[in-house]
Amino acid sequence: MGEIHLRPRQIIIIVVIFVVIILFITNTRQNCEFPKYYRSSARKDDLPTIFAITPTYYRPVQKAELTRLSHVVMLVPNVHWIIVEDADHTSSLVTNLLQRAGLVERSTQLSAKTPTQFKLQGKDPNWSKPRGVEQRNAALRWIRENTSKDDRGVVYFMDDDNAYSVELFEEMNKIQAERVGVWPVGLVGGLMVEKPILNNENIVTGFNAAWRPERPFPLDMAGFAISLDLLHKRPEAVFSFEVERGYQESEILRHVTVLKELQPLANLCKEVLVWHTRTEKPKLTEEEKLRKAGKSSFDGIEV
Ligand SMILES: *[C@@H]1O[C@H](CO)[C@@H](O)[C@H](O)[C@H]1NC(C)=O
Ligand SMILES: *[C@@H]1O[C@H](CO)[C@@H](O)[C@H](O)[C@H]1NC(C)=O
Repeated sequence: MGEIHLRPRQIIIIVVIFVVIILFITNTRQNCEFPKYYRSSARKDDLPTIFAITPTYYRPVQKAELTRLSHVVMLVPNVHWIIVEDADHTSSLVTNLLQRAGLVERSTQLSAKTPTQFKLQGKDPNWSKPRGVEQRNAALRWIRENTSKDDRGVVYFMDDDNAYSVELFEEMNKIQAERVGVWPVGLVGGLMVEKPILNNENIVTGFNAAWRPERPFPLDMAGFAISLDLLHKRPEAVFSFEVERGYQESEILRHVTVLKELQPLANLCKEVLVWHTRTEKPKLTEEEKLRKAGKSSFDGIEV
C-alpha cells in the first residue's frame, strides 16, 4: 500500500469543502426550528389550564373534524379537552381518537343528548335545533364540580368545525382573574373579520358586527374565553334554549362581565388567530346507492 501525500493546496481545498458542509448543516438546522409560540407553550408550569369545550355529533365528517382539532390540542400542553357528544352514550369513535392522540390523560369524554322537545322550535325551520346548548351546559357542570374556585383556569368553547391557530391558546394564557378575553374571528357574520372595537385607552367599546349588531355582545362563540373563577362566582351563567338565534354568547356573557371589562387580546385585536370555517357536507350519492343495495364502502372501517 502506497502512502497518500497531500500537497498544501489539496489540504486547503479539503478544509474549505469541510467548512462549507458545516455551514450548510447549521443553516438547515436553524430553518427547522420550532416556531416561538410552540417553544413557549411547551413549558407547562405556571400556565392556567385551558378547558376547551367541544360539542359534537355524529355525521360523516365528524372524525375528520375532531382529528384536525386533536392536533391543535396535542401542541398545547395546558389544554384539557372536554368533548361532549349529542348522544345517549359516548362513542368509541371519540374514545379511539383520544387514545391514538395520546390525550386520554388530559381530556374528558361526556355525552348529553339535546332534548327532543327543543328540536323543532325556532322561526327558521332550517335552524330548528339549538345545537350545543345541552352539551356546553354539561361541560360547564363538569367544570364547576371538578375544579375549585382557586384553580387557575380559562374556559373556551371550541366548536369542531372552526380552524384554530396554536397562537390563540398563547393569548388565552394572558387572561386575568375575573376577566373575559376577546379577539377577532375571521370569516364570520358575513364579514372577513368580526372584531372588538377599542378606544384610545384600549378599552372595548363595541364590536364591528354587521349581523344583529343590537345584541348585548355581538361576537362569535370562538371570539372569547372566560376566566374559570368567574364561572364559580356566577353559577347562573349557562346557555339557554329560550334565547333567539345568535344570542347564546350574550346569554352567558351577560352574567359574568360588562363590555368595558373585556380584555382585548391578539395584539389589541389586530390579529386573526381563529376562523369560522365550515366544512362542506360531502356528497355521498354512491354510498346511498350501496346502502339501498344492502352494501357499504366502509364495512369494518371507522371513517
Ligand atoms: C330551508 O332550506 C331549504 C332547502 O335548502 C330551502 O329551500 C328553504 O328556502 C329554506 N328555508 C328558509 C326559511 O331559509
Ligand atoms: C366530575 O368528575 C367525575 C370524575 O370524572 C365524574 O364522575 C363526575 O360526573 C363529574 N361531574 C360532573 C358534574 O360531570
